[in-house]
Amino acid sequence: MEQIKDYIATHKDRFLSELVELLKIPSISADTAFSQDVLETAKAVEKSLIDAGCENTEICETKGYPVVYGDKIIDPDLPTILVYGHYDVQPPDPMELWESPPFEPVIKKTELHPDGAIFARGACDDKGQMFMHVKAVEFMIKNDQLPCNVKFMIEGEEEVGSDSLADFLEDHKEKLSNDIILISDTGMMANDVPSITTGLRGLSYVEVEVTGPNRDLHSGIYGGAVPNPINVLNKMIASLHDENNHITIPGFYDKVEKVSDEERAEMAKAPFSLDAYKKALDIADVQGEKGYTTAERYSIRPTLDVNGIWGGYTGEGAKTVIASKAYAKISMRLVPDQDPEEITELFTKHFESIAPKSVKIKVTPHHGGLPYVTKTDSVGYKAAAKAYQATFGKTPIPERTGGSIPIVALFEQVLESKTILMGFGLDSDAIHSPNEHFGVWNYLKGIETIPYFYKYYTEMTS
Ligand code: BES
Ligand code: MN
Ligand code: MN
Repeated sequence: MEQIKDYIATHKDRFLSELVELLKIPSISADTAFSQDVLETAKAVEKSLIDAGCENTEICETKGYPVVYGDKIIDPDLPTILVYGHYDVQPPDPMELWESPPFEPVIKKTELHPDGAIFARGACDDKGQMFMHVKAVEFMIKNDQLPCNVKFMIEGEEEVGSDSLADFLEDHKEKLSNDIILISDTGMMANDVPSITTGLRGLSYVEVEVTGPNRDLHSGIYGGAVPNPINVLNKMIASLHDENNHITIPGFYDKVEKVSDEERAEMAKAPFSLDAYKKALDIADVQGEKGYTTAERYSIRPTLDVNGIWGGYTGEGAKTVIASKAYAKISMRLVPDQDPEEITELFTKHFESIAPKSVKIKVTPHHGGLPYVTKTDSVGYKAAAKAYQATFGKTPIPERTGGSIPIVALFEQVLESKTILMGFGLDSDAIHSPNEHFGVWNYLKGIETIPYFYKYYTEMTS
């Protein structure tokens, strides 16, 4: 397995240029104007699997964008690892904040990435991290080092909620059967602090519409005498947190699993600098639920956040108007054992109940997803920890993250498999933001570490 270092040294430039080519295609799943690009990316991913030595590759139709499949089955009696990733990306806007165009990748040095980082939409989330697996498998196949079977399942609508995936899993249970699922679509604490993600938050996402008068009104003639939906919406939203930043929706916390004091003490040992955190975000202070640390607030506690709010006049200058309608998009990040459908229902009931009689309310649910946690005493976790030990020379720290990958809970329900989340990105890599990037060192370290997981997992299970 030591050969992997030499293989990377020899093929490093090609590994980078192949990723750069993939990053040039704007596979934005949220915007139908890019549907051809999304499909083209699926084809490019399939070709990369073929080039790596995979067999049975296929672009599998779904109700939405296709899933790219490919495998290498060397012996049905050996364990099978299913690699999941996504080839779609978030929209790049706001465009004017990018220092270089989002789909024209460039490599630049940064403070945290002295060896350079690839700047492009999708560099870290998730084309770069997904492609580490393709290159790691290429190494293993071409050098006769593949110790077990591997299947790839790379989807194209993760960033819009993986709507077609539940059916896809049900319809292809046999094809996707596996012993363990491996995903790189999260992060790690720092380049010298490797960590393994042991938890993801769930998600409930709603859009609300508040309607006041039946048309926009002159704010002088009518102002003060009629409900202003923007004022009303803001007051309603403000009331969703109390003075301790607890969420006020009745029943919201009922199913939140209590994290033991031991586990919280364990979490508190992980390196975390509040000063560095504030400095990196240019905020004078943090804010969150009373009684919890910052690291707890973004990992083991549920949240409610307005993601967008609009209505009325927002153009140049001043227009004196009372809008007829106001809107907001609201996300709630969930933790075990909260259920997204139940939470959406609780939200809707509560939101309707706090609305003054003077306005009409409409709540539209968007996609959701279940939270996920995994234990550190499983074979999969232990094999992953050993792999990090081999390439970082350090024992990784288990870490629950705040983001969501809804498919992970579905994998457990439908395929009855556990997932190992080996992320190599950093929180500062600006995923979903302008100037997203992925460290060259991180990319290559991922390629180096992945084959060790295959080796140790196979050894520990046979
Ligand atoms: N890769 C992210 C999730 C992630 C990133 C988890 C970093 C942990 C650390 C994924 O692509 C994503 O953005 N998920 C969405 C949810 C989805 C339903 C749109 C999210 O978390 O907002
Ligand atoms: Mn992702
Ligand atoms: Mn994402």
